[in-house]
Amino acid sequence: MRLLAPLALTLSGLTIAAPAAAQDNLSNKATANVVAKAASPNGRITVTVSLDGEGRASYAVQRDGKPLLNDSRLGFLFTDAPKIDRAMTLAGTATDTVDTTWRQPWGEWATIRDHHNELTVRLREAKNLRREIGVTFRLFDDGVGFRYTLPQQPNMRRVNIAGELTEFAFAEGGTAWWKPAYLWNREEYLYKKTPLDGVGTAQTVMTVKLDSGTHVAIHEAALIDYAGMNLRRSDRPNAFIADLTPGSGAPSVSRDAGFSTPWRTIAIADDAPGLYYASRIGLNLNEPNKLGDVSWVKPGKFAGVWWNMITGHWTWARGPKHGATTANVKRYIDFAAANNIPGVLVEGWNVGWDGDWFGNGKDMQFDQPTEDFDAAELQRYAAAKGVYLIGHNETGGSASHYDGQLERAFAYAQAHGIPAVKTGYVTDAGEAERIDPDGSQHREWHEGQWMVNHYLRVVTTAAKYKVSIDTHEPVKDTGLRRTYPNWISREGGRGMEYMSWEAKNPPEHEANLVFTQLLGGPMDFTPGIVSLKGSNDSDIPSTLAKQLANYVVIYSPVVMVADTPEAYARYPETLPFIRAVPTDWSDTRILNGEVGDYVTVARKAKASDDWFLGAVGDEQARSTTVTLDFLDQGRTYTAAIFRDGPGADFRTKSRHSMTVERREVRKGDRLRIELAPGGGQAIHFIASDPAKRRR
Ligand code: NOJ
Ligand code: CA
Repeated sequence: MRLLAPLALTLSGLTIAAPAAAQDNLSNKATANVVAKAASPNGRITVTVSLDGEGRASYAVQRDGKPLLNDSRLGFLFTDAPKIDRAMTLAGTATDTVDTTWRQPWGEWATIRDHHNELTVRLREAKNLRREIGVTFRLFDDGVGFRYTLPQQPNMRRVNIAGELTEFAFAEGGTAWWKPAYLWNREEYLYKKTPLDGVGTAQTVMTVKLDSGTHVAIHEAALIDYAGMNLRRSDRPNAFIADLTPGSGAPSVSRDAGFSTPWRTIAIADDAPGLYYASRIGLNLNEPNKLGDVSWVKPGKFAGVWWNMITGHWTWARGPKHGATTANVKRYIDFAAANNIPGVLVEGWNVGWDGDWFGNGKDMQFDQPTEDFDAAELQRYAAAKGVYLIGHNETGGSASHYDGQLERAFAYAQAHGIPAVKTGYVTDAGEAERIDPDGSQHREWHEGQWMVNHYLRVVTTAAKYKVSIDTHEPVKDTGLRRTYPNWISREGGRGMEYMSWEAKNPPEHEANLVFTQLLGGPMDFTPGIVSLKGSNDSDIPSTLAKQLANYVVIYSPVVMVADTPEAYARYPETLPFIRAVPTDWSDTRILNGEVGDYVTVARKAKASDDWFLGAVGDEQARSTTVTLDFLDQGRTYTAAIFRDGPGADFRTKSRHSMTVERREVRKGDRLRIELAPGGGQAIHFIASDPAKRRR
């Protein structure tokens, strides 16, 4: 990295203009003077950093020369020190350029390009404590990330952050898709669609379609040892303030100086599909893999002793309806082995579920099976059939209780051939239980600094035992899968389980998720409820074909085949697709889409030349045409199409109507996709062997 003095300079693709006089310009208090500037590699996105007449620092983002974010404040409030806000001066700048391509061990793409220009601005207080902070911007062609650095210095040793002054001040109005922060059900709220000025306090990812049509997603990357960021609307029009999740003590964040904050990310695209690609800036802003060889991390589908509990037919607790019995698990292993499904999740296998476990996991023992679950026999039985079991640790939000058992829990998993564990934190938001070594008790937010550290402690401890983690009731995904590839998935939103309960997900839910939550990373959505039946025999508002489409639309390296073996036996027409669809991809294309309306996704299998397509809509019938330009030139493919059949409609008894047909297609062919109300379509493009075809 080159260190530059504060003066004007132009580099190819990157400009820094820092007139020294601007620093001391106290006469014009209102007007901000640009002290540094940088551009993305293609020059379309620029960032300016300014100081106003009182020395308040701000940044602004422009795209194609037009303002996207107006001057937006930078700074901190502390619980035990004066704020960092006014009287800042420019102490120096530095720039860098990176263009590398890195390989994902698993993911939506085999490789990801990281091409950005970097600008670091050092700001120093002109008086009083004379503290210095850094702000580093990374400008990609499809977005911006920035983070603060708080170096160790005489007047800043321990940092107790009460809040950030960081703003995101949109330069125009628009429509926002967002879910509320700080409500009891954590991340499990439907996305609201409101004007920007109608947003309350939002969790990130928040997705915005500006009035000019530009799509923007605000989120964060590399949330480590810090509080999760929400967005609080400020009194300026269309502006938001970074709202740090509180800790149970006074500060939101408490740690020694000498660290950088998470990256605040602004993904920018012309349309919704573009936003999906732009979300890769979040992965690029995370550190590379710290675990070394991760060949033990296994993407794949899994079946499981689960939906029968969600619908109330079985229980997690012991008793006459206990689900996780040796006999039941053997049937799920048989089903998995017969259908190319490598994993079987078992919930309710351990001691601790008999009481009221919601908000209380104190009885949970993560290495003690119940009497009717023969762990050794099931390990043998599964291995003989080429299947592995997936463990389950429900903490009921008793995080410290779980901390005390982590080593045992993962040693147990490793000893029983269990490569992955699904964890759970079922308790109200703000109620995760923390007990310190001195016995003092605290209640924490799932997105607060203490829980952020807890979740990562679980993941890194699991890694020592070659165990992967699928977190339910998690902290939001900020791309840490790059650094810790055994953090394979998480819930973090309303998954399929809501389709069993009274307040079901609406048909537009998946088309919302792709362009909101899923911009943050994979989701364990648990698709494939082919019975289309929830608890109390309630109808699920989806067509059968949509249940298949979700395997392609909603990305996760571990994907559940979530219904019961009996249900799949009743709807065997779904099994050819479920058997064939992989969970690891070398390429992903978003062929079309509008937030909350529809989306069509094509993905190429990593292990073959086959492509898969999934399209989902909302409550309306929808029709789109896609061009198959992603297929290989000169090759024919057999398209196995699973589409909404005659009369299919999520509101009627014909929601199971599905037509399965096969036809030959080639690169460049155009395909009309008709979606029923609440419908979907799934296609498997089976590549012919070119050698065979020529004969
Ligand atoms: C909620 C999770 O989302 C669900 O998948 C799990 O079965 C229950 N908690 C019990 O842990
Ligand atoms: Ca809609």
